Amino acid sequence: MPIRINLNGDVTQEASISVLDHGFLFGDSVYEVVVTHKGVPCFMEAHLKRLRNSAAGLCLGIPWTDEFLIREINRTIKEAGNEESYVRIMVTRGEGDIDIDPTTCSRPSFIILVNEVHLYPPVQYEKGINIALVSVIRNAKDAVNPGIKTGNYLNNVLAKLEANRKGAQDALMLNNQGHLTECTTSNFFFVSEGRVLTPSLDCGILAGITRVRVLELAEENGILVEEGEWPPEILEKAEEAFITGTVKKVMPVSHLDGHPVGDGMPGPVTRRLMRLYETMLDQAIKKTEQPSGK
Ligand SMILES: Cc1ncc(COP(=O)(O)O)c(C=O)c1O
Repeated sequence: MPIRINLNGDVTQEASISVLDHGFLFGDSVYEVVVTHKGVPCFMEAHLKRLRNSAAGLCLGIPWTDEFLIREINRTIKEAGNEESYVRIMVTRGEGDIDIDPTTCSRPSFIILVNEVHLYPPVQYEKGINIALVSVIRNAKDAVNPGIKTGNYLNNVLAKLEANRKGAQDALMLNNQGHLTECTTSNFFFVSEGRVLTPSLDCGILAGITRVRVLELAEENGILVEEGEWPPEILEKAEEAFITGTVKKVMPVSHLDGHPVGDGMPGPVTRRLMRLYETMLDQAIKKTEQPSGK
């Protein structure tokens, strides 16, 4: 099915934003990615909450209610008619002077882009992916805080390019203290002595919605979890590793910098969490009566 784009309420197959929009000129925008599971957009409340937090981090007001946005999201998904949808919700600062000062922008714009979801090849879930520790560091918390999801991902673009050069499928970044953070569009976890470990929010990472669900699932199922600050050397002894994100869900990592993690195959804890996550998605959509766009 063709892509559908809802720009400030008009749904079309092609939309244009002004080149004077500060989202275009300065990356002055925020966004979220939601996917549908069996046709139902998942964790919408959490995504809209994070969208608002991100906007607040840029002093960008979102003048639309959640109810309105949910209605527009559902309408766009319906018009796109895909079996499963990728939904990107963006709010840009809007048109203003060609000047870094955002106060010249009077009105933000929203864009809801719906496409078919492009799933990752099954082989990546069966065998795991290869990631590389890169030299590009994750933004410092007192710069563009990684906890806010802005339209400026240039640091992560650089990290991804470095991973590409190294022949890896994703990049794992450190923070400016030398502690593990996350990958370019996913949170990072590893397993050590049967415990699931992941960098804490204090390390300067996005509070991934999948990350929270995985931590909850691990705890509910008796798997010990710990959030903390770790140097990369700790990964030499890791038994397993995986990354999480809305589209990729729980994706095993088999190799780091070309070396196998554990035995170089998705391990039992990762595989268990992959299954638990799928089951939880089924339950989550049963609980979601059609999102309330009334
Ligand atoms: C930098 C970064 N970290 C983590 C994530 C995972 O977040 P979520 O699970 O909410 O998709 C993303 C998602 O795009 C991301 O861009």
